[in-house]
Amino acid sequence: MPPRKRGVMNTLYPPGEKPGAAGRMKNHCRRFWWCDLLVIAIIALVIVLPVIFVAIPKKAQHDINASTLEVTSQEITDPSPDGLHLKLVSLAKSGSDFHPTLDAFSASLALEGKDPFLYLNVPETKAEAETTITVDQDIKFESLDRFVEYNKVVMGSETFDVYLSGKTKVHQSGLKAISVDYNKKITMKGLNKLQGLNITDLKILDKPLSDGSNMVGNVTIDNPSVMTLTLGNVTMNLSVDSNPIGTSLLPDMVLKPGQNTIPMQSNVNQSTVLTMVVSKYQNAILPLEIVGNSSVVGGQHLTYFESAIKENTIKLDLNVGPALAALGINPSSLGGGS
Ligand SMILES: *[C@@H]1O[C@H](CO)[C@@H](O)[C@H](O)[C@H]1NC(C)=O
Ligand SMILES: *[C@@H]1O[C@H](CO)[C@@H](O)[C@H](O)[C@H]1NC(C)=O
Ligand SMILES: *[C@@H]1O[C@H](CO)[C@@H](O)[C@H](O)[C@H]1NC(C)=O
Ligand SMILES: *[C@@H]1O[C@H](CO)[C@@H](O)[C@H](O)[C@H]1NC(C)=O
Ligand SMILES: *[C@@H]1O[C@H](CO)[C@@H](O)[C@H](O)[C@H]1NC(C)=O
Ligand SMILES: *[C@@H]1O[C@H](CO)[C@@H](O)[C@H](O)[C@H]1NC(C)=O
Ligand SMILES: *[C@@H]1O[C@H](CO)[C@@H](O)[C@H](O)[C@H]1NC(C)=O
Repeated sequence: MPPRKRGVMNTLYPPGEKPGAAGRMKNHCRRFWWCDLLVIAIIALVIVLPVIFVAIPKKAQHDINASTLEVTSQEITDPSPDGLHLKLVSLAKSGSDFHPTLDAFSASLALEGKDPFLYLNVPETKAEAETTITVDQDIKFESLDRFVEYNKVVMGSETFDVYLSGKTKVHQSGLKAISVDYNKKITMKGLNKLQGLNITDLKILDKPLSDGSNMVGNVTIDNPSVMTLTLGNVTMNLSVDSNPIGTSLLPDMVLKPGQNTIPMQSNVNQSTVLTMVVSKYQNAILPLEIVGNSSVVGGQHLTYFESAIKENTIKLDLNVGPALAALGINPSSLGGGS
């Protein structure tokens, strides 16, 4: 008997009957098959486990991060002092090759760096390259103060950002549910201070309406946003050179996206206006300042809309000449000098 060869290699790969690697390999496999299997299993787990527990969730989160969300329509109806009905239609876009299902989840809406002003229920969604997500529900504000702040931003901005955040799970067939954060910055057009608001069809009434209104007309507003806002009975204060000349009521005002023509009735101190027209503004063009005063539904004030419209002064040159002429009054013939 030749002495047993020593060493790790000779233990793992004992020489066979014939010299050469093939025989050693055969012996090795016969004696250490269980050990090899274990090694292969461990190597497989070391590769597969991180894929399952790290790489796939990371990809899921990465794809969620990379997707975008755009609001295509935002409709506010049934407003009350502490809540409203919201219909929000948005379009999620994703370039991912995964098309998982996202569980329904509760998402907060907030301005940058602020706490949420409301929570909404995002329904279960099957993610495609483009997915329409519709939220349609009654909302109670999380914080009225923060909703007031949000409405001021909507009123005053050409564009603004709102942050939607929530946690949900994604389901991809064959994989177990993966938890993801759904955080999206949504850039939207605001009301841009209602710039371009105009008054048309102004008429002076021979006989005042039951509420004392002595003028009627239309307010034209171009709403550049995708928002429909139910504002209730809106009143505005009218002044010229900071002197109040009257008020306007826009009954049951609903502001829609695009061009709006909204009926208006006004209670204007006609003697004050006539005095202005015969003295300082003989061309009958009054530099009108309009500032929102109230927004009331069912006798209740909507403070969140009121705060926004109260902060917003609209200036417009109002030609009262045609309305006066319709009454047979020619401003330049009223005298008053020059
Ligand atoms: C996803 O975005 C968040 C920030 O919103 C970031 O902290 C996180 O690292 C991102 N995750 C991936 C996988 O890209
Ligand atoms: C406002 O409306 C009046 C009456 O229709 C019109 O003459 C005037 O040009 C308009 N002003 C603006 C800035 O559009
Ligand atoms: C306001 O505009 C509407 C639609 O253009 C029109 O029917 C109505 O007569 C206008 N109002 C007044 C007071 O002229
Ligand atoms: C109109 O304004 C004048 C002063 O500018 C005031 O004396 C008068 O009482 C006012 N008329 C009404 C109906 O408010
Ligand atoms: C509107 O006018 C009324 C009466 O003059 C006044 O009490 C109110 O403060 C005014 N509102 C705004 C927002 O200026
Ligand atoms: C202006 O707002 C005040 C307080 O909200 C309200 O009492 C008043 O009636 C409003 N003015 C008009 C003309 O509606
Ligand atoms: C607006 O005021 C009118 C007259 O007071 C009322 O009939 C109507 O219900 C009010 N609209 C709302 C939305 O409260």
